[in-house]
Amino acid sequence: MLLLNELDLKGKRVFLRVDFNVPLDKTGKISDDSRIRAVLPTLKYLIEQKAKIITASHFGRPKGRFMPGLSLKPIAVRLSKLLGLKVMFVPELIGDEVERLKHDLKEGDFLLLENLRFYKEERDNDPDFARQLAKGIDYYVNDAFGACHRSHASVVAITRHVKKSVPGFLVSKEIEYLQMMIQSPQKPFVAILGGAKVADKLPVIKSLINKASDILIGGAMAYTFFSAQGLNTGRSIVEEDKKDFTLKLTDKAQEKGVNIFLPSDHIVAEAISSEAKTETISSFPIPEKSLALDIGPATIKQYSTSIASAKTIFWNGPMGVFEIDQFARGTIRIAEAVASSRALSIVGGGDSVAAIFKAGVENNISHISTGGGASLEFIANETLPGIEALREKQHDSIQ
Ligand code: 3PG
Repeated sequence: MLLLNELDLKGKRVFLRVDFNVPLDKTGKISDDSRIRAVLPTLKYLIEQKAKIITASHFGRPKGRFMPGLSLKPIAVRLSKLLGLKVMFVPELIGDEVERLKHDLKEGDFLLLENLRFYKEERDNDPDFARQLAKGIDYYVNDAFGACHRSHASVVAITRHVKKSVPGFLVSKEIEYLQMMIQSPQKPFVAILGGAKVADKLPVIKSLINKASDILIGGAMAYTFFSAQGLNTGRSIVEEDKKDFTLKLTDKAQEKGVNIFLPSDHIVAEAISSEAKTETISSFPIPEKSLALDIGPATIKQYSTSIASAKTIFWNGPMGVFEIDQFARGTIRIAEAVASSRALSIVGGGDSVAAIFKAGVENNISHISTGGGASLEFIANETLPGIEALREKQHDSIQ
């Protein structure tokens, strides 16, 4: 694949697609700016190389209409602080005024356009919208790893309307780590999967069954596995239509010599609330009025032992209702176990990444992915639409 540092960028107009889809707190302030920080190396490089830079991102899911709360304006302010440079924010994406500003850019200057998803054409991968975004652009740089699993206009269609397309430094790094993990993982390879739904993890589990040594399951999704075995899971979340799949998966794992671990004890309560009385139970049935909300101490110990023996670790998804302190222990302990290991460790997904930071162990993780959904899809398919678009469109030929 052609790389960013192989391009002569001086004076060239570059469209830089980033993922500034950052979380906000209750007051609307950015609560975690890691995704903005993650693209600074690419942005700084483009500035140093004297490119003329047009930056664009999506933010939330505004479904093709303008929503003031999802404007990128506050993000321009944070970006400006992080870069120590004035960021020119343009409250539009296409049209005469944008063209004029693009045209007037000086070498090393950059501007940030408005939220791409204010146009429905973005999600439709609309070729005309892509053509307008690419107007006057020489090169396209994709550093939006978190959006590479989306076949959207600024991720896929745009590459057909520029001279060359390359990944940014962040996308290159993400591909490098994930490829290393799925193509040649050092064994034992331990995958830890959590979260509420089996449905979200279905393709990734299928793929990991051919690669991992141990798969440790946590979070509400474990209870669909238990229920499929005929166990009484109380009021725990169970996806009835996925029960068969979990049984087939368990058989397949056995055939392949892969260990699927399920929690051996559970923190249960009658309500998902910080005031609810909790109980640790280690056998079924789960009391009729209760639901499982975290893994228990014996499971933490067992999972930590498997993690300690690993040479490669992938983790996506919390072990319990991590947002509530009394159900966060399992997730935090797993974060600590992953960080203590000497394995190549990759963590993706909002809650697992948040747990890594909450536990203060972020410096002991080999790679923290900026794309939860994107990293899962990469593991399932070994590529992503955004990456394929770069491969297809590396050299001159404009449609
Ligand atoms: C993410 O937050 O995972 C990415 O920014 C993609 O966002 P999306 O799921 O709304 O496409």
